[in-house]
Amino acid sequence: MTELAAIVLAAGKSKRMNSALPKVLHPVLGLPLFAYTLEAAVEAGIRRLVLIASPDHRELLEQAVATWSEERPEAEGVRVDVAVQETPRGTADAVLAARRRLEGFTGTAVVLCGDAPCVSPGSIEALLREHRARVSDLSVLSAEVNDPRGYGRIVRGPDGDLAAIVEEKDATPEGRAIKEINSGILAFEMPRMWETLERVKPSRETGELYLTDAVTLAKVERRKAIAVHAAVWTDVLGVNDRAQLAEATSVLRDRINLGHMKAGVTIVDPKSAFIDPRARIGRDSTVYPYVLIEGPCEIGSGARIGPFAYIRGGSRVGDKAVVGSYVEVVRSDLGEAAKAPHLTYVGDATIGPSANLGAGTVFANFDGEAKHATKVGANAFVGSGTVLVAPCDVGERARTGAGAIVVRANVPAGETWVGVPAKKLQRRKGDA
Ligand code: UD1
Ligand code: CA
Repeated sequence: MTELAAIVLAAGKSKRMNSALPKVLHPVLGLPLFAYTLEAAVEAGIRRLVLIASPDHRELLEQAVATWSEERPEAEGVRVDVAVQETPRGTADAVLAARRRLEGFTGTAVVLCGDAPCVSPGSIEALLREHRARVSDLSVLSAEVNDPRGYGRIVRGPDGDLAAIVEEKDATPEGRAIKEINSGILAFEMPRMWETLERVKPSRETGELYLTDAVTLAKVERRKAIAVHAAVWTDVLGVNDRAQLAEATSVLRDRINLGHMKAGVTIVDPKSAFIDPRARIGRDSTVYPYVLIEGPCEIGSGARIGPFAYIRGGSRVGDKAVVGSYVEVVRSDLGEAAKAPHLTYVGDATIGPSANLGAGTVFANFDGEAKHATKVGANAFVGSGTVLVAPCDVGERARTGAGAIVVRANVPAGETWVGVPAKKLQRRKGDA
């Protein structure tokens, strides 16, 4: 098999985002845009990747890549280098910025766009399959779309092969009418393409060096160039502005939710469940409407989440546990069958199996300077409206009365504490 490398472009100016944050670092469901592109490349079997950054954002991107690699132990053997494009002179120049990092590389290079996060591994694989099968020199992933505005258009020759790609800004009215667009995702043979890219001339309209001009140059030399349709057009969605950012979020959300549903999770309304791609959910759990799950959370099987729940900070929710309506859980661990059914904030806490947190329980975990931890034991019963001022420890089978405020105390196992500040309930003679 031929060698594979990916060049991921992420050094553009991204003016249309109107943001201080580099476009490719805008988060979608908890992960930066570019991470989805890297992920797809790795899943398609590419082990060597070069991310192209602008000098200003190099450090930020290097950090983001490091975080991504750490969180992805299964990506072992994957190498991601960051290369700098000194000035954003266009996509052809951006690809050339990878040249030093890929010194001596012979094989197929796949160019991906850091701002096209929806590309699926399947589409990259389809592109590579056709590229090899048809012994192509340069292959482009394309899609038929209803609204091609903003994309380069695919011009096919009489033989059906790729003849040229015309950028919208440079297109004639006939060119603009074409509905087949360039995804910005290409495969080509190295080292030959380096020379082709060196020969790209600035666009007369914009002065930019277009990667898409490499097609025309390759055709002049009678080299084979083809366009391959993506599996679905949403695979090629490019994010240039915030409206497209929302569109990409919706595509990725649907894809992630479909994955969970196939794995046996009921999602009542997939349009209103926003689940981080790193989150895991067990079989026969149900996600009710309006749920946000951020980060690499772990939810067991048979759990009930929502409606209106927010789980974050790598929290864990055990089998058959309940995180009910208007409940927020952060950096916490809920044991098997533990329940927080209504109006509760659980922060920096460990909740034992079958413990019950009454409506309106609040874990006061932050004293204005530092966060503190709280433990609630197995089968404990926390009364409605209890505030647990951390650090706190509520023992096994212990109870608190409604409205109790437990201030940095340990409630021993089996005891009942009530009042403000909460104290042990003294039972009078004759009490049951
Ligand atoms: C590009 C394609 C267009 C395609 C579209 C798909 C070119 C000339 N045009 O247009 O045919 O339909 O993508 O989404 O290739 N970048 C750099 N350095 C630069 C310029 C861009 O790294 O100097 C990066 C950007 O960060 C971005 C990607 O390349 O990730 C594409 O650049 P962008 O300016 O968004 O190109 P489009 O106008 O979308
Ligand atoms: Ca773009």
